[in-house]
Amino acid sequence: MADLDSLRTEAEAAIAAAGSSAELEELRVRYLGRKSELTQTLRSIGELPPEQRGPVGKQANQARVALESLLEERTRELRDAELERRLVADRVDVTLPGDPPEPVGSLHLITQTRREIEDFFVGMGFLVEHGPEVEWDYYNFTALNYMPGHPARMLQDTFYLSADVLLRTHTSPMQVRVMEAHEPPIYYVFTGKTYRRDNDATHTPMFHQCEGLAIDEDLTLGDLQGVLLAFARSMFGPERAVRLRPHFFPFTEPSIECDVSCFQCGGSGVLRDGSRDPLCKGEGWLEILGAGMVDPNVLGFVADNGYDPERWQGWAWGMGIERIAMLKHGVTDLRMFFDNDLRFAEQFR
Ligand code: DAH
Repeated sequence: MADLDSLRTEAEAAIAAAGSSAELEELRVRYLGRKSELTQTLRSIGELPPEQRGPVGKQANQARVALESLLEERTRELRDAELERRLVADRVDVTLPGDPPEPVGSLHLITQTRREIEDFFVGMGFLVEHGPEVEWDYYNFTALNYMPGHPARMLQDTFYLSADVLLRTHTSPMQVRVMEAHEPPIYYVFTGKTYRRDNDATHTPMFHQCEGLAIDEDLTLGDLQGVLLAFARSMFGPERAVRLRPHFFPFTEPSIECDVSCFQCGGSGVLRDGSRDPLCKGEGWLEILGAGMVDPNVLGFVADNGYDPERWQGWAWGMGIERIAMLKHGVTDLRMFFDNDLRFAEQFR
């Protein structure tokens, strides 16, 4: 029994001093394994004189239970300490510069173009807003004078989240939103993402628009033409001319489309070598946007917000930012903007 005592003391000291889980495993085998002194003792209890079996067995069992729980406790301690050490050693400072440092990136051509457009209109006195991409049917269609059965409302034309919530198909819903929030006169541009169920060389399911809205007491289509001419010249060169063609939109009356004279052929439709200009397809004009005088029916939706259609009038336009960028930079496939191919993106740093 004295041997068992010293064995237990020795084992307890060894376990307490162990420095790794591998060492602990060795100690477990040595003191509690099948060939260990303790196990042998427990096994041979039957060979002892009957009066010793009880006390020796009890002492050996107590030693076994004590050592097992000590081992377990120590194993846990060591595992925690090892984990802690690994966490400290593996800590990465994500704020350090890369090695070698990554070159600084640049703005995407669409962002550059959007900012260039915004800058121009800010210079003309317009304010910039963006608005929600997830929009009520009310703002996207109803308040823009789309009749209930209008074909553009059909499910295939956009992405519906529920019967009356959708991804906006244009930036025009911001017209009524802004008129609800601000009394006239107002001069605003709205830029941002828009969505349609389209996918080909000139349409992607997500694209960007820049909308303009001006409401005042005496605005005419002539004012719009002047603004668009200044814009076309700022974007495509001081020689540019614009022309307005009749068109149709539910929310403008009259509606127009605006073309800018082709900057590649100078408006003649013919290149220097006598061949047909492929950019404007020989037309001499490039279509850049839709616009018109805001339909009094649209103002009717915000008449209670100070927009009496008998007193206030104005115009709006909507243009595709990708289209402006494509024309300006000779990009032939709209999808290239969103392929994330650096060979494309890096040309516009
Ligand atoms: N929202 C139209 C579209 O996406 C573009 C547009 C046309 C906007 C005329 C206007 C406008 O504000 O007056 O096709």
